[in-house]
Amino acid sequence: MASSAATDEITRTIRVWDTFVRVFHWSLVVAFVTAYFAGDDYETVHLVAGYAAAALVTARIVWGVVGTGYARFAQFVRRPSTVLGYLADIATGREVRYLGHNPAGGAMIVALLVTIGGICLTGWLLTDIFWGSKFFEDVHEWLTNLALVLIALHVAGVVIASVRHRENLPGAMVTGRKRAPAGDDVA
Ligand code: HEM
Ligand code: HEM
Repeated sequence: MASSAATDEITRTIRVWDTFVRVFHWSLVVAFVTAYFAGDDYETVHLVAGYAAAALVTARIVWGVVGTGYARFAQFVRRPSTVLGYLADIATGREVRYLGHNPAGGAMIVALLVTIGGICLTGWLLTDIFWGSKFFEDVHEWLTNLALVLIALHVAGVVIASVRHRENLPGAMVTGRKRAPAGDDVA
């Protein structure tokens, strides 16, 4: 039984997320959740997970510059007007599908990297430089709460995009593959 050209078009997938991005993503999730729940009750666990998050964010920033394809910042960081326009398109149900990160997702990635980087920096400052500083402790916790809000919005965005474009985006972050672009999709 020969499969039709139409069937091939529907099932054809393309490799989008490289190994680095996929390992980075799920490692960061584990490091963040571990650091969060360890809090200051399990200090060693907190510090190890926190430093792991710091190393992951640093490596991702480097990869965003020297990496290739859909991992590059230049590929997915767009001007604010483009991001706002895309959010308006989502609100009115007209947003096009992107093979890489869409403009809103790209902005969220920058926000997450900066916020988690800030959490790690203030954690290090209050551990090694200004030990017990109330100011950095407050900023550390404030940024952590901000990260929780961002993560909730990030996951909501992933769910909305998965439903709207009928694809399993968390699954794509595991396999690296997404449905080939068609129609108005932005490759
Ligand atoms: C601690 C929680 C989380 C953090 C800090 C986080 C952070 C990130 C970051 C930094 C990226 C950009 C990936 C890259 O290009 O390097 C990303 C993408 C992504 N994340 Fe998460 N994430 C979290 C939880 C989750 C969860 C629970 C899911 C699954 C429901 C998820 C699904 C995704 C997907 C599907 C993408 C790709 C989005 C796209 O297609 O543009 N994330 N996340
Ligand atoms: C993603 C990474 C991190 C997250 C989510 C995080 C989150 C938190 C939270 C929620 C607390 C408050 C715990 C409580 O009051 O019970 C805390 C406390 C603390 N964190 Fe982090 N943290 C991270 C990384 C780091 C790093 C990298 C360091 C140090 C190098 C650090 C050092 C500390 C210290 C010393 C405290 C205790 C402050 C106090 O006495 O209340 N954290 N962190």
